[in-house]
Amino acid sequence: MRLAGKVALITGGAGGMGSAQARLFAQEGAAVCVADIHAGNGRRVVDEINAAGGRALHTPLDVTRAEQWAEAVAQAEATFGSLTILCNNAGANFRVSFDDQTEEMWHLIMETALTGAFLGIKAAAPAMRRAGGGSIINIGSIATTRCGDNPGYAASKVGILGLTRAAARAYAKDNIRCNLVSPGHVDTPFIRGSQPHSPNDWNTSIDNPENLQRRLAGTPMGRLVQPEEIAYAYLFLASDEAGMVTGTNLQVDGGASL
Ligand SMILES: NC(=O)c1ccc[n+]([C@@H]2O[C@H](COP(=O)([O-])OP(=O)(O)OC[C@H]3O[C@@H](n4cnc5c(N)ncnc54)[C@H](O)[C@@H]3O)[C@@H](O)[C@H]2O)c1
Repeated sequence: MRLAGKVALITGGAGGMGSAQARLFAQEGAAVCVADIHAGNGRRVVDEINAAGGRALHTPLDVTRAEQWAEAVAQAEATFGSLTILCNNAGANFRVSFDDQTEEMWHLIMETALTGAFLGIKAAAPAMRRAGGGSIINIGSIATTRCGDNPGYAASKVGILGLTRAAARAYAKDNIRCNLVSPGHVDTPFIRGSQPHSPNDWNTSIDNPENLQRRLAGTPMGRLVQPEEIAYAYLFLASDEAGMVTGTNLQVDGGASL
């Protein structure tokens, strides 16, 4: 029960990594708000956690909308009490060349990953201050340190490191920590399926053995990361065990960024 008594709001909570965090945090005693733009998937995760004896709530949220953030934080506090953990997972990607990346794609990537996290931090910080402290965990990527040639994704994932460090400095006086977890290739719908926020075709999906092999060849540990392995890193940073850890970038990538 490493998170006993804590309340967590998890964006992208219906997705591969967010749902793994929601399940693990609930097992460790936290009440969890599963915040996602996809209501059906969000409710499924919530039903599963509640059926297993946890405490979970579906929070409809488009992270790019400030007014929805205000409602989400108010709902979390009204239902479960003081909000002390925020996990910003929501992200987007379009795997096209620099030439083919449109202004619309650029904006969706930047607004989901970067503006979404910025708005989330601004909405949650006053609640955490009222609670006497908190932990914010953002999501990076291999692209945070090895930026690749995808303009929006590289800019958003390098930018989130700056946002994380700025928040860590700004809120340390309020006992609010802010850290980044940078995953490698994680087996989730983000790189396997095709969704509006992350379209994949046969060339880019890990269902394609050649694409999978390329990703494994770039990972010294030689396998995909499982969403649960990312959730354990989030658990540490969310817990009081990490009480003096702030502004860091914890890479959970099997060596893929080396
Ligand atoms: N899977 C990987 O290999 C990998 C690696 C590194 C980093 N990441 C990052 O992890 C994050 C999510 O990853 P995942 O692998 O769990 O993906 P996923 O596609 O399984 O889940 C993403 C979730 O975010 C939600 N979402 C999208 N736009 C939203 C919005 N505007 N508001 C609220 N929710 C929104 C989707 O509905 C979905 O449930 C992204 O930021 C991505 O960049 C993924």
